[in-house]
Amino acid sequence: MSIDTLAHDLQIAPEVADRLFRTARTAREFTDESVDVAQIEAVYDLIKWGPTAMNILPLRLLVLRRGEARDRLVPLMAEGNQERVATAPLSLVLAYDPDFHQHLGTLFPHAPQIKEQLGRSPEARDPMARTNALIQAGYLIVGLRAAGLGAGPMNGMDFAAVDAEFFAECGWRSLMVVNVGHVVGAGTPLPRLPRLEFADAATVL
Ligand SMILES: Cc1cc2nc3c(=O)[nH]c(=O)nc-3n(C[C@H](O)[C@H](O)[C@H](O)COP(=O)(O)O)c2cc1C
Repeated sequence: MSIDTLAHDLQIAPEVADRLFRTARTAREFTDESVDVAQIEAVYDLIKWGPTAMNILPLRLLVLRRGEARDRLVPLMAEGNQERVATAPLSLVLAYDPDFHQHLGTLFPHAPQIKEQLGRSPEARDPMARTNALIQAGYLIVGLRAAGLGAGPMNGMDFAAVDAEFFAECGWRSLMVVNVGHVVGAGTPLPRLPRLEFADAATVL
């Protein structure tokens, strides 16, 4: 099948492709409209179906409404990110759980030996959890867009400080912060940057 044929063979409506990808922007500017935790729960309920290796689902979310807990996050962000984290309707700290294997009795019940093997090997679990939680973070960003919300992911943060501040007891490890809300206009004043085309990003053998 030629690339041209594939390009016209999307099985989603054009406006959905726009909302999820083509016109969706990394959100920087939000209206005052609040975002309910129930909306985040509904999005999670959708994106939990995205695939992960051995169905481990290592992504964890710390949901921060405006208030005291959010105020503790702001100074741990890079300076250029602080104002946006302070003012976003909702901020999520996305993290991974290095002890994800504890859930495998439920999530991967047909292979109990995997849970035991991983239980003995934190050095195997950590990269597995990180990789798969990042995959889930991608699903989450698209899921937020599907729900009509803007998502503003950020890596500019002191990860060790965030982990010490919020995850000292549970052992989760932070991956990014995602600001969430209803966007003003396009959601950003920044110009759209070019993307690599398929020919630049793919090798076909
Ligand atoms: C994982 C990740 C981390 C990012 N970290 C930051 C950040 O710390 N600060 C910031 O202003 N933008 C950050 N961005 C935004 C990117 O620069 C932006 O998504 C990219 O330029 C594409 O922008 P567009 O969606 O408006 O086209 C981050 C994006 C991602 C996906």
